[in-house]
Amino acid sequence: MRVIVERDQEGVSRRAAQFIANLVRRRPTCVLGLATGGTPLGTYTELIRLHREENLDFSRVVTFNLDEYVGLSATHPQSYRHFMQRHFFDHINVDPRDTHVPDGRALDFEAYCEQYERMIADEGGIDLQLLGIGSDGHIAFNEPGSSLGSRTRLKTLTEETVRDNARFFGSEQEVPRLAITMGVGTILESRQCLLLAAGATKASAVRDTIEGPITAQVTASALQLHRDVIAILDEEAARLLERRDYYREVERSQAALQEGRLGKFGLAPS
Ligand code: F6R
Repeated sequence: MRVIVERDQEGVSRRAAQFIANLVRRRPTCVLGLATGGTPLGTYTELIRLHREENLDFSRVVTFNLDEYVGLSATHPQSYRHFMQRHFFDHINVDPRDTHVPDGRALDFEAYCEQYERMIADEGGIDLQLLGIGSDGHIAFNEPGSSLGSRTRLKTLTEETVRDNARFFGSEQEVPRLAITMGVGTILESRQCLLLAAGATKASAVRDTIEGPITAQVTASALQLHRDVIAILDEEAARLLERRDYYREVERSQAALQEGRLGKFGLAPS
């Protein structure tokens, strides 16, 4: 896993937006996997800025969101569809028909989840999946104990997640207890994953994800099996990583290689 440590959340957002913008420029028809929550907000703001000021073009991009609360309609202010419209889709030129957020009001959930998987496959799979991480180490709503091979399905939220997410609702009682979520297996099929984390409350989940054993108790740890994951962290979220200095050295070496500063490696041109 590549680990990039930025000074603060703003740095994380800018860096993540750069990766996404580069992909959209390189492949205008790319398929983006998107996340909601507090973490990616700054990334969306920066992408909107790039759209407005640098003509970043989303007109042929297709998106799939990770998850949605069960029972909330698309217009409910706390639904993830509403979140995406308000914080991203309404401000860029993506075709609304190409934005997909699971339908929390689907009646036959099993059939709907299968259909969601099929829609992703029909678009050729996800090129880049943006991910936040829960304080219990979940990705999407794959709570501790979720199968690491899981597919899109219904999931019961843990008390910890309900408590964490109560900040977006009036009270804990109002937080839905069920969600539709892409599975860990679905996420692992994305061609690249960007895992974002900021703040001290994420530090232990980040340590367990990156340096702990692969376990269904920390579903984000399954990302260790993926060949192309970039974790972008702020200092506080990276605080408990033992190999922090090494990750920084790797980034310095990468930068030197890219800039052709080969002397650092005893390869200076004669
Ligand atoms: C949201 C999602 C969740 C969040 C995670 C962190 O679509 O999939 O896994 O990424 O709960 O949430 P925040 O960013 O609010 O701390």
